Amino acid sequence: MNTRKKSIRHCATVPFAGGKRLRPYLTMLAYQMYKENLDPITPVAAAIEMVHTFSLIHDDLPDIDDDEYRRGKKSCHAVFGDGVALLAADSLLINAFEIITYAEVDDSLKVQFVRELATEAGIKGLIAGQMVDIESEGKKIDKKTLNYIHNNKTARLINLSLRFGALGAKAPAKELAIIDDYGTKIGLVFQIIDDLLDIEGSSAKLGKSIGKDEAQGKATFPAVYGIEESRNMAAELTEKAKTAISTLGDRSLKLRILADYLLHRKS
Ligand code: IPE
Ligand code: IPE
Ligand code: MG
Ligand code: MG
Ligand code: MG
Repeated sequence: MNTRKKSIRHCATVPFAGGKRLRPYLTMLAYQMYKENLDPITPVAAAIEMVHTFSLIHDDLPDIDDDEYRRGKKSCHAVFGDGVALLAADSLLINAFEIITYAEVDDSLKVQFVRELATEAGIKGLIAGQMVDIESEGKKIDKKTLNYIHNNKTARLINLSLRFGALGAKAPAKELAIIDDYGTKIGLVFQIIDDLLDIEGSSAKLGKSIGKDEAQGKATFPAVYGIEESRNMAAELTEKAKTAISTLGDRSLKLRILADYLLHRKS
């Protein structure tokens, strides 16, 4: 058995921790606008979910958001302790890059995936967003900083998920730009809705604690714009995202439906 097959078999024996799996789904939807057989892109989709899950384990740690619940269960550090949670997240992050190397795509594309994932998730991407998020706790922040946090900590990885699907399928540059426009917008909507659900959502449906953002003085859209305006902004961005992607015609139908789902989601 080759290494890739062994690795995939090993993954199948690990119990699932839940989660919506939005990011790999986005990779697959973007890929399927061009090609049918998902096998070549599946390891890349899994790698993005691994990086996302790493970010959640760290996000829940006592020194970051101090969250006891995640995906309907006690969070990783709450069950296994901070040391194990740090190591579990370390391995998800590191092995994500290994998994990309198993993808059956051109080597030059693998290099591009590795570089872009590091850029979007790293010190000038997701980590930067998380850094400004914790620095902003309890402070009055301006709209520009709020946008910076949300775009970096959340929107960029969501956008990258779509981009990797499209790149893997060799989408033309003009279409990549359209997908990028859609991805950036639904990525921001995703975090605005996450902020709103922390106020208005049900902890049973979300599988995580609610009411914590306000208690911790987090920089959120409702804290800066109020609930109604935040919802209107999310709805407006969703319409713009749908308009952008609709220029790709019928192929974009699932992405248009998904944009509406993400606006109205309860979990
Ligand atoms: C939660 O992400 C963290 C944010 C970026 C808002 P998700 O809501 O996608 O979490 P899971 O993966 O479904 O648990
Ligand atoms: C987290 O944002 C974004 C990440 C990159 C992990 P939040 O802190 O709002 O996510 P939740 O609400 O804990 O899932
Ligand atoms: Mg956080
Ligand atoms: Mg959090
Ligand atoms: Mg949140």
